[in-house]
Amino acid sequence: MPVTIHDLAAWKARGERFIMLTAYDALTARVLDEAGVPLLLVGDSLGNNVLGYDSTVPVTMEESLVFTAAVARGAKNAIIVGDLPFGSFQASAGDAMRNAARLVKAGANAVKLEGGRRSVKAVRKISAAGVPVMGHLGLTPQSFNSFGGFRVQGRGERGDVLLADALALQDAGCFAIVLEAIPAELGERITEALEIATIGIGAGPHCDAQVMVITDLLGLTPDPMPRFVKRYADLRGTIAEAAQLFAKDVAEGHYPAPEHQYH
Ligand code: KIV
Repeated sequence: MPVTIHDLAAWKARGERFIMLTAYDALTARVLDEAGVPLLLVGDSLGNNVLGYDSTVPVTMEESLVFTAAVARGAKNAIIVGDLPFGSFQASAGDAMRNAARLVKAGANAVKLEGGRRSVKAVRKISAAGVPVMGHLGLTPQSFNSFGGFRVQGRGERGDVLLADALALQDAGCFAIVLEAIPAELGERITEALEIATIGIGAGPHCDAQVMVITDLLGLTPDPMPRFVKRYADLRGTIAEAAQLFAKDVAEGHYPAPEHQYH
């Protein structure tokens, strides 16, 4: 059964924890979808993890559209969340709406955008048009130039600012909010204050859900990793070993064997 945004509200009400994972391609999306992952985020982290950029800032709408469409083709039941990249929603609510519509036409069921009160007009416009919007607060990677790097956000009195931002996003119509790299106590405070689900990444154990970048989860991303990453596999090792075994087989004449040949 396809997951809907109303399921998230029910899970929060029942205290059922859930997950979101990033996905960038159809094959991985299919595996995750069949494994029952309810939310697939085509994050602009595709810039670092697929395209080899230094940050998410260079990611374009055209790139987001290609990867969103691929993930949507691979998944049947998960909610596909398309990320609005840097520059695609900040100039005006009209821009935000046009670009959200392009992601939906490519296959997204919802869109995500970064920022608190400064993004409220965009959230209102998009959600009023019937497109579910996920917010993103805390360490929002598109703003790393103004943060002066990747630093924990919302410590001390800055926590009140983030809480006010979260309430403003909820009021504007967001159905969920990603909280990234904030103190665990603040993650708990915001989660308790909101009716909508919080999805944490480095925001402590009290969020309603947790999100992880798929290449981090699978051990593909090289060190150094942020503190919140837990690797559940070692794909770097697995891929390197498979490539070396293939080279050895070829060098020793074991591949192709008779069963791999056409006659
Ligand atoms: O782009 C992304 O992968 C994200 C997650 C870290 C939430 O925004």
